[in-house]
Amino acid sequence: MNVKNYVNFEILSLPENVSFARSSVGAFVSQIDCTLEDVDEIKLVVSEAVSNSIIHGYNNQKNGKIFISVIIYDNRTVEIIIEDNGIGIEDIEKALEPAYSSDPQRMGLGFTFMQSFMDDFEVLSKPNEGTSIRLKRNFLAKGKEAYA
Ligand SMILES: Nc1ncnc2c1ncn2[C@@H]1O[C@H](COP(=O)(O)OP(=O)(O)O)[C@@H](O)[C@H]1O
Ligand SMILES: [Mg+2]
Repeated sequence: MNVKNYVNFEILSLPENVSFARSSVGAFVSQIDCTLEDVDEIKLVVSEAVSNSIIHGYNNQKNGKIFISVIIYDNRTVEIIIEDNGIGIEDIEKALEPAYSSDPQRMGLGFTFMQSFMDDFEVLSKPNEGTSIRLKRNFLAKGKEAYA
């Protein structure tokens, strides 16, 4: 599988950067000729992951770094990696449970959305080191009807 195109960027953990990350990744992914719905799903997943880094990883502190990579492969697979150097996740299995949140005010559905909209989903995290979310989606596999 060959890399066709990629972008890497870094943002500060400011809430206004959620929409920047969401739109930038959406714009980049749009070069694959896929549906608007596909792009909207990618944007949703990116905003969930970046919000998690800001809210949970950095506890809303504004000086954290978030690293975002998007890779487009020859076979129309898109890989998105979102990383922070925040507090990390103690119990990943528990964090992935639908409707689990460490904050009772929140819905706990971010990871559930990521899993349902993507074909491949991986969380690497270490307490006090940070969290890395790796998401993959193939646009032939999922949007097949759209291209028939
Ligand atoms: N980047 C992160 N750093 C630290 N903890 C995280 C991170 N992302 C997710 N978590 C943990 O996983 C839980 C579940 O995340 P999520 O499904 O998005 O639900 P919510 O954001 O509504 O709490 C969070 O409540 C938090 O405890
Ligand atoms: Mg969340």
